[in-house]
Amino acid sequence: MTFLVTGATGQAGRRVVDALLAEGHRVRALTRRPGAAALPPQVEVAGGDLTDPESLRDALRGVVGVHLLTTGGDDHATLATGPELAALFAEAGVRRVALLWNGRVGPVEEAFAAAPVEWSRLEATDFMGNTFQWLPQIERGRVEEVFGDVPVAVVHEADVGAVAARVLIDGGHAGRSYTITGPVALTARERLAAIGEVLGRPLEFAELGEEQARERWRAAGHGEELIEIFAAWHSTPHPATSAVRDLLGREPKSYRDWLVTTFAGR
Ligand SMILES: NC(=O)c1ccc[n+]([C@@H]2O[C@H](COP(=O)([O-])OP(=O)(O)OC[C@H]3O[C@@H](n4cnc5c(N)ncnc54)[C@H](OP(=O)(O)O)[C@@H]3O)[C@@H](O)[C@H]2O)c1
Repeated sequence: MTFLVTGATGQAGRRVVDALLAEGHRVRALTRRPGAAALPPQVEVAGGDLTDPESLRDALRGVVGVHLLTTGGDDHATLATGPELAALFAEAGVRRVALLWNGRVGPVEEAFAAAPVEWSRLEATDFMGNTFQWLPQIERGRVEEVFGDVPVAVVHEADVGAVAARVLIDGGHAGRSYTITGPVALTARERLAAIGEVLGRPLEFAELGEEQARERWRAAGHGEELIEIFAAWHSTPHPATSAVRDLLGREPKSYRDWLVTTFAGR
């Protein structure tokens, strides 16, 4: 079976690619910059832009299932092209779509809910890989972050990829939403302490005010819509669920697994 993976050059999509390849499926990867995509040689790279649905027409040929982002552009704005994408997928004969949400059910999810395509929604919590955003501050020994005491069961990108692959390969998940999390909820303060343990040096946590955090998100190029989603999301606890265990038959990967793999030798 051939699957189209959008976001294949990003944190989560790259893991969807790996999980599909591991089970022997053909993978086509969508990217806006085919020449820059560093993907395994067996992956077919297809140029296309989710904000321009017609640009996906060739990439959809012969595709059974699609891993679909619900945001696009370097500011991660919610895609306004959901209805066109849903119509194009139906016309191309795509049977299944795994929709990776952006913290809030939005217009792409709504468009697919009304389309003649089997859709499943993957409500992933924060990716463990977001830790990379702290790296420059970790080098300086002090990390500034907002809502430091709110527990979130951050999820390993490999688990997001594995769940997306399961849903796309197996079918039987039409209309279902899965809250994909890691094994345990950890506050930002606790995550930083875990990094300090792995690195063998203490790291200071400095609580940012919400306004400072909003300024920082703006400076990083995020639009106001996404900043609202961030503020609502990060101020709310997100406990662990059994979704990874239920769907994959194994425990979710832990934050420590992620840290040890990523920080080994640093
Ligand atoms: N980060 C989190 O904690 C988190 C949690 C839950 C859900 N999510 C959702 O997951 C999505 C992916 O996150 P990530 O961290 O894996 O992404 P990422 O590493 O920031 O990479 C972004 C990906 O999106 C692709 N992309 C962006 N605009 C595009 C467009 N207009 N058309 C086609 N492809 C486009 C990029 O492909 P090219 O540059 O190769 O074109 C790249 O593969 C986020 O946008 C968010 O909606 C994220």
